[in-house]
Amino acid sequence: MTTQPSGWGEQPGPPVREISRRGFLRRAVGVGVGLLTLQFLGGTILFLWPNIKGGLGDPNLALGTAADIAGQQPEWVRGLPFIYNKARLFVVNVPAAKARVDGTGEEFDDPGDEIVALYRKCPHLGCNVPQLCDRSMWFECLCHGSKYTVLGEKRAGPAPRGMDRFAHRIEEGVYIVDTSVRIDGPPIGTETFDNRRNEDIPHCAG
Ligand code: FES
Repeated sequence: MTTQPSGWGEQPGPPVREISRRGFLRRAVGVGVGLLTLQFLGGTILFLWPNIKGGLGDPNLALGTAADIAGQQPEWVRGLPFIYNKARLFVVNVPAAKARVDGTGEEFDDPGDEIVALYRKCPHLGCNVPQLCDRSMWFECLCHGSKYTVLGEKRAGPAPRGMDRFAHRIEEGVYIVDTSVRIDGPPIGTETFDNRRNEDIPHCAG
């Protein structure tokens, strides 16, 4: 006859099957919540990605070659800035813009590295700055009257500085703009060219 050791057999306490079921349910709920979270995050990233790529926040925004830009904005070679709306940019062909301001009529098909990528958001209170005024050849913010030269240097109004900008580089002839880092516009008093006085020229905005 065998004797059972003491404590052998049914033990008091919560039933083993009951604990397992609770644990299983807890894990199932956890996995379900995790999957839903992943699904939500994936959907959000997919939704936002096309807006980041090719717009603001893109360190490698490819605008195309000088010929590509001129294809979209033929006046670019005669100094009218190219507007790239997705990233709220003015892309300025600097030698052509200078010729336009000076009234020489000279054209520049390919300015090489001499471009400026200006942020259209006015550094005063953030309004969208319209295309260059064809009377003054300045950018004129319609909200409170800040005025900037074609290089975004401030000439009038309440803005605390010139228009902000983004760095650019050229890779195999393609202009690449880093819209992930905004660079503060030049301080008041900066004059690269165009030293006409506000009161001496006609304007589009008051
Ligand atoms: S937002 Fe442009 S001048 Fe105020």
